[in-house]
Formats: sequence, structure tokens, C-alpha cells
Amino acid sequence: MCGIVGYIGNKEASPILIDGLKKLEYRGYDSAGIAVYHNESLQITKTKGRLVALEEKLQGNELTGSVGIGHTRWATHGAPSDVNSHPHGNSTQTIAVVHNGIIENYLTLKEELQADGVVFLSETDTEVAAHLVDLYYNQCGDLIDAVIKTMGRIEGSYALGVVCRDHPDLLVAARKDSPLIVGLGKGENFVASDIPAILQYTRDIYLLDDHEIAVVTRDDIKIINRNKEEVKKEIYKVTWDVAAAEKGGYEHFMLKEIFEQPKAVRDTLLPRLPQNKEEIVLDDIKLSQKELEKINKIYIVACGTAYYAGLIGKYLIERVGRIPVVAEVASEFRYRDPIMDENTLLILVSQSGETADTVAAMRRAKKAGARVLGVVNVVGSTIAREADDLLYTWAGPEIAVASTKAYSTQVVAMYLIACHIAMETGKMSTAEFIELRKELHTIPDKIDEILKQADKLKEYADHYMSSKNVFYIGRGLDFAVSMEGSLKLKEIAYVHSEPYAAGELKHGPIALIEDGTLVIGIVSQEELFDKTVSNLREVKARGAKILAIAQEGHTEIEKTADDVIYVPRTHWMFTPILANIPQQLFAYYMATGLGHDVDKPRNLAKSVTVE
Ligand code: M6R
Repeated sequence: MCGIVGYIGNKEASPILIDGLKKLEYRGYDSAGIAVYHNESLQITKTKGRLVALEEKLQGNELTGSVGIGHTRWATHGAPSDVNSHPHGNSTQTIAVVHNGIIENYLTLKEELQADGVVFLSETDTEVAAHLVDLYYNQCGDLIDAVIKTMGRIEGSYALGVVCRDHPDLLVAARKDSPLIVGLGKGENFVASDIPAILQYTRDIYLLDDHEIAVVTRDDIKIINRNKEEVKKEIYKVTWDVAAAEKGGYEHFMLKEIFEQPKAVRDTLLPRLPQNKEEIVLDDIKLSQKELEKINKIYIVACGTAYYAGLIGKYLIERVGRIPVVAEVASEFRYRDPIMDENTLLILVSQSGETADTVAAMRRAKKAGARVLGVVNVVGSTIAREADDLLYTWAGPEIAVASTKAYSTQVVAMYLIACHIAMETGKMSTAEFIELRKELHTIPDKIDEILKQADKLKEYADHYMSSKNVFYIGRGLDFAVSMEGSLKLKEIAYVHSEPYAAGELKHGPIALIEDGTLVIGIVSQEELFDKTVSNLREVKARGAKILAIAQEGHTEIEKTADDVIYVPRTHWMFTPILANIPQQLFAYYMATGLGHDVDKPRNLAKSVTVE
């Protein structure tokens, strides 16, 4: 979602802010702006649209100065417009604020401020924060106190960056429920909502926790709490390379990340499956065998693609671990009254570790006494820090909004967790595990094999390019896979599609099948093959065109399907990770063929940090 960058040093701030914001473009945004201290005043330039529009606006009107804040906005309160863009200022433009998150009580605060004569320029919730800082600053004369008082008034989530004309040597940042980091430089320091924004300048960062305030000058960073007590923070060293966040010759991040999957899967898998041990090594899962044996119910909670990976986990844990599992989207889970106690395990799946609903679900479960296991990609994220147990998916930075390699590694995590639970509770023998481990080791190469069929998938995408409605159908694990395929097509190709349990079609949706409707049939599950093929015949009889994804050797599918993509044979548990790869490529080529910018799909953001 929104991106924040702040700089204080001896260089020109403006290019550093713009450059940092460019590195955050992948998060999704609709407007951008910067505020820079110059000549004893704060100069703000902001505009609706992409960063190029901001750069155009700055041409000939460059903001010179070495302290500033920048922002890319993903609209929540008020449409994308110049005036609603951040930074927002107080009435005298002596204070500028950028904000990620949502100020839930902004209307009450706005009315209160308006009653005192404050005139609002924008429709945003953020402007309230600018005026509040101004109000308290005028009352107490201390910018830090003013920010702390403002934090005390705001309900909701925020990552704030604040600069003030009276303090040209100071950058203040604060967070609650929205990610914020501080980068340590030499004679310069940085603030950002995500690592890529500042990675070319520093690898040493502080990860701010909720209710912490960073008081940043050129030569010093102090992290304090709301009582102004200093908080000792460890420096987190970023180990991944700048190149990992670059396109590396690929046309899009999404394509690069699709092709990175063999490596991402290897990196997630291999350290956990040492050949010399007959167990899965999950260092950050502290749940003992005794505790695991007491678990009588598991919830898997996540959003979007991460939820679909979680659905695979549900099927597997129930089948091999024999513990009842409910998989649910976090936005629903958090607002109903799920039954949880100390014998409940909540597994959260999240690439970013910051998704607002997933974080809220975690906090809710912890309150109810449940044990929380996070499956997270971003190191040091909120879920990574707050979960009781942790399994990192080592996918590396995922920049494209459409999740690909993160999904594959999340599915790997589900394999590891399911096998771990089954072994610890005596439902899977060592011999069975060794067989599975052997097969798991072959998965990265099998993904490579599928990627070699990219050209064929492009041909199919070109062929079906005019489809307006697409059905994805499958049974069992294939049904879970079909949901991810359908989401990918919707989010980047903007083609309406529906995933359906193949056996459920004739209870209604089959009425939508007409001549030429594209049905993508996932038939990778050996034991359900015949059943799904029967369902495919039913839609074929009603005029559908069928593109099937099947395991090698199942050539009889060619009698039913118009086109087929084969994936290498594997154990039934591991078909989802393979069957999904053609879906990713198909969606990618449909989207590019239709002329869409797949890395920045409309209306979407990489990390959904608001409800
Ligand atoms: O960071 P998370 O894994 O928690 O994000 C969850 C979803 O927002 C995310 O998977 C989303 O559905 C992707 N855009 C799908 O490609």
C-alpha cells in the first residue's frame, strides 16, 4: 500500500526520496509527493498519478535541501487527487506529515479541530494528524511531545513521518500497526516503510515496534517509547542483495519471480530436510511433541493467495496429521467468534507479515490463549515478531503485487508442517517420511521442467485471449489450486473468472457455460482424475473449451480437453505446487497480451496494511 521514505543528511534529499519511492512502487499507489526543508521553509510538491508525474512537476522547480519526507499514496479516504496526496501540512505549512494506515476516529478529530477554526484542505484522514501535531506543538513547544500527544489521540493504524520548519535537523517517525524502519547511515539516516527503499544506502536498520518513536538527526537515532524512555534496539542486518529487488533483465518482476521458484523452493526446503537426520528441522517452532499432542483443532488464517496456500495445508494436515483444520480468510475470522483455547493452534500465512486482517486475527487468537504459528516471508515483520512459533519461507523479496514464488514457498511450508505434525503425533512413520523427503527434493527440478513450457503457455494465452469469463475447476487439492489460478487471472489480466469445485458445477454455475466458455480443468490428483474428467465432459457437452493441467502420462485427457499442459509426475501431496506453475504463466501471458502492467495491477497493493 502507501510508501514512506524520509531522509536527513548532507546530500540533496529530493532525489533520494524519489528514488526510494520508486523502489516502493510495487506496493501499489495512485499519487505521490515530497516535502523538503529549504531556505527556512517547508516546500511541498505532490500530485495525483505516478512518480513520473511528480518528477515532471518538479522539473524546473526542484526542491533543494537535505531533510525531507516522501510518500506514495493508495487512496482510502478521498479519491486520488493532488490535494489528497501526501505530505499534508498544518495551516501555516510549517509542519508536514506523511502517513500509512487508517485513522479510524478521524471524523471526530476533524470536527473537534474544525470547531477550533482549523480549515481542512483535503478529504484525508491524515490531514488530522498534521493539524494535531501543530496544535500540540503550539501548546508545548516540543515537536516530540507533540507527536506523542498526537499518537495518544489517534485510533487506528499509522506509520508517521514528520518534519517541522522549526527543526531543520530533525526527522520524527512513529508507528502503530503499520510497518516502519529506520536506516542507519554515516552522517545521514533514513526512514522508510520497507527495506528496498533504502537498501542502496544502508543494510543496517532498526525495526520499529508499535508505539515507538524514532527521533532521527544526521548523526544520531534515538528510539523512544511514549514515556520518552529510550528503547534499546538491535540492529537488523539485511542480508539480501539489492539485485534481488531489481528486475535482472526480465520484462516484469512477476516473470522474474515465477522463474525464481526452483531456487525459492530449494532455499525453503533444503535447510529443513537435512539428509543426515530423519526429521524435519524447524528451528523456530518451539511447540513440543507434548504440546502438539494436546492440539485438538487448527485454524489456518490468511488472505488472498496466502489463504489459498493455507487451504492446501488444511487438506494435508487433516489427511496426514488427522487433526481437524478450519481454513478461513482473516477478514472473516477476526470478526466472528471462533472457538479457541490453549489446545488450539492458529497457523497464519503471510508473505509480508503485515497484512492488517491477518495481524488482527493473530492478536485475537493470542488473547484467547491459542498457540500461534506464523508462516512468513518478510524477516522481522509484525507476525514474525509476535507469533509464538515461526517458519520463514525463504522466497527472497517478492516485489510483484501478484504473489508467485511466495505462494510456492508457502505451499512448501504446508508440506513441512503437515509432515512434522504427522510425525510428532505418530501418524507418519520414519520410512514414509524418508520416501516423501526423497520426492520433495525433486520438486525444484520438476518446477524447472514446467517453466520450459512457458512458450506453450504463451501460445495458449494468445489463443484464449478473448475469453471474458473463465472457470477453473478441480477436486480436492486441485480445487484449492484452481482458486489460486483464478485469482491470478483476475488480479493481473482483469478477466472475470471463478474457481469451482468440479462436482459442484451442476448445482448452478453450469448454467453459465455456453459455446466457447473457457474452462481450465486441474486434474493432477490421480485418485480424483476420472471424477473430474466426467465433470469436464459435462461442460464440454455444453460448448465449453477445455484447457487441462494434468500429470504426465495421463494422455487420455486429450480425448476430453482441447489443450493440455502436462506437469511431471509426483506424490499426490506435491501436485499443487507443480499444477499451479502453468496457471501463473497463463495469467501472466494473458495480462501482458492484453497490454496490462502486471507489476502494478489497477486498484491493488502489495501489502494490505489497512482493513
Ligand atoms: O502479505 P500477505 O501474504 O499477507 O498478503 C495476502 C494477500 O494480500 C496477497 O496474497 C494477495 O492476494 C496477492 N496480491 C495475490 O497475488
